[in-house]
Amino acid sequence: MRCDGGLRYGGDYNPEQWPVEVWREDVALMRRARVNLVTVGVFAWSRLEPEPGRHTFDWLDQVLDLLHDNGIRVALATPTASPPPWFSLAHPDALPVTADGVRLHHGSRDTYCAAAPAYRAAARQIAAALADRYAHHPALALWHVHNEYGTTCHCAHTARAFRRWLAERHGDLDTLNAAWSTSFWSQHYTDWAQVDTPRATQYLANPGHLLDFRRFWSDTLLAAYAEQRDLLRAANPTVPVTTNHVLGDWVPVDPGRWAAEVDLVAIDHYPDAVDGGAEEQTALAADLARGWARHGVRRAGSPDRPAAWLLMESAPNQIHTGGRMHTKEPGRMARHSLSHVARGSRGVMFFQWRAPAGGAERFHSALVPHAGPDSRVFREAIHLGEMLERLSEVGDAPVDAPVAIAWDAASGWALGHPGMPSPWLDHHAEVAAAHRALWRAGFGCDIVLPGDPLDGHRLLVLPALYLASDATGDWVRQHVHGGGHVAVTWLSGVADDHARVRLGGHPGAFRDVLGVRVEEFHPLADGTTVPLSGGGTGRLWAETVRLAGAEVVASYAGGMLDGMPAVTRHRFGAGTAWYLSTRPDDATYGRLMTEAARAAGVTPVCPAAPSGVEAVRRRGAGASWLFLLNHTDRPQRVPAAGVDLLTGATIDTEVRLPAGGAAVLREAVG
Ligand code: GAL
Repeated sequence: MRCDGGLRYGGDYNPEQWPVEVWREDVALMRRARVNLVTVGVFAWSRLEPEPGRHTFDWLDQVLDLLHDNGIRVALATPTASPPPWFSLAHPDALPVTADGVRLHHGSRDTYCAAAPAYRAAARQIAAALADRYAHHPALALWHVHNEYGTTCHCAHTARAFRRWLAERHGDLDTLNAAWSTSFWSQHYTDWAQVDTPRATQYLANPGHLLDFRRFWSDTLLAAYAEQRDLLRAANPTVPVTTNHVLGDWVPVDPGRWAAEVDLVAIDHYPDAVDGGAEEQTALAADLARGWARHGVRRAGSPDRPAAWLLMESAPNQIHTGGRMHTKEPGRMARHSLSHVARGSRGVMFFQWRAPAGGAERFHSALVPHAGPDSRVFREAIHLGEMLERLSEVGDAPVDAPVAIAWDAASGWALGHPGMPSPWLDHHAEVAAAHRALWRAGFGCDIVLPGDPLDGHRLLVLPALYLASDATGDWVRQHVHGGGHVAVTWLSGVADDHARVRLGGHPGAFRDVLGVRVEEFHPLADGTTVPLSGGGTGRLWAETVRLAGAEVVASYAGGMLDGMPAVTRHRFGAGTAWYLSTRPDDATYGRLMTEAARAAGVTPVCPAAPSGVEAVRRRGAGASWLFLLNHTDRPQRVPAAGVDLLTGATIDTEVRLPAGGAAVLREAVG
């Protein structure tokens, strides 16, 4: 970001929804809260171009000047996530079509087809007009292209583009037929014109077809992003460009693949767990973003460029879960924010600055709520601004993370396909379960994508990494052979890149490393568990595991698998490979991961931290910083020493954290 050092703080700012008097109050309040970056214009297309080709930039000129005069930088958005009504009436062919053939109409947001030439041309035009006018505006720190790319379409434009993408990927129809196993159910294609998007069909769709469509659509959206980025960059190459990814248990695009195309990875994170799980979700989201950023700089061939990422959106207060809004109790907003900063975010941004009186999201939380600045939330916003200012010295110091967890968008997509042995197979949920086990046990984790370098990662965890190419098999093999440790869970390595099952016993890609051969799957009914020897239970899944060199760590205790291996360990080359053939309960998972981590020579970040206190360490040249977050509702003591940046206090032996409180210690190194 073109920002002076320090952390960025602010959020989505929508002056187009307010009269000028409110703008003046806004900037005064922003200064009070120490806001230094706002995202402007995300959904402002109809206010910037009220009719085709007629631009009304006067209000945006005033807003940018006002912000600049007050020392507030701008992430200027291109408004292409919400074309105006005139656009859809003029170009009905650019409206999206659902899988069952219904063409949607304007009236909400994100109602366009990203493969429609008219949409792409209009998006380029409005982005170019913004670039022309603002690329050299002194307030401009960052271009924010679009918003949360992800909506999909099944129109004729999309089908044509899909066929072109498939021809490029597979070369010819024979190869496509083989990749999609089209001999099954008479799906063999003899002409490209027969291939369509995976529209609604009579019964189960083809898994290879579905998987390629997800990949194609992610690439199509990426191309739509890249053409805007290129023209923004051409207007002023010194201004970085990004777009924000929505996070959750669904993945509309592959952010890992996109990461090489952005100047910093930006995520929006709205944890949906209440009563406890939100902290774990926050830690995982931040680790994912950092992992994508690291993957991106490597993929772009510029490993020396900092792997930067930013929390672009989060909720200052209520979050919507299960139809009801849940209030964040005092201190939680700050703790979640600090958890992101601890894991490398270059700042903390919110949706949204001021709560609107109308519109679909009128009850979404905001830094300035409906009640106005005389409110708990705004007072907490001021406090957070003060805290963030005190943390600027942490800069881009790397996060200590000796454990790597593999994440793969395509495995997530493939496990969501119909015809799987269980309806509860979810790569993201399995990554979250492994991450939770390690997080609760206090270990620092990086997220990696298959094939990423494993420098410094002593333990690699593969949670339900369903798709594994031969190259992924080699990646794991070399890591373990060279002395690394790996923990592989059920459903990993079962299928190849085209979602075709690897034959000869599961997990096909990793059998030799693990020293096991899985003969049968035993998906468990919802809510049922299977006892394990030594205590604990497995859920969701069990397997008939045959040993082929591995030793048994735990067995199934009861039922048809009684006495058979459930968890195994295998020496392979100079390393060790663990296999978990079921999803252990959280406590058992934590025990197993702790044992695997210890065997790999990995220790927790702050071994003496009490349960419920999260510890993250960053290490820079000649300094280290220990973030301590007390997620409990009781005061906690943590043996540690240093200077608490949040209070300025020198801590000699023990930090006292108030209930829900935090400390960031600059530690003496030497
Ligand atoms: C985000 C989106 C914002 C707003 C927010 C509400 O996903 O980018 O525009 O809708 O959700 O939580």
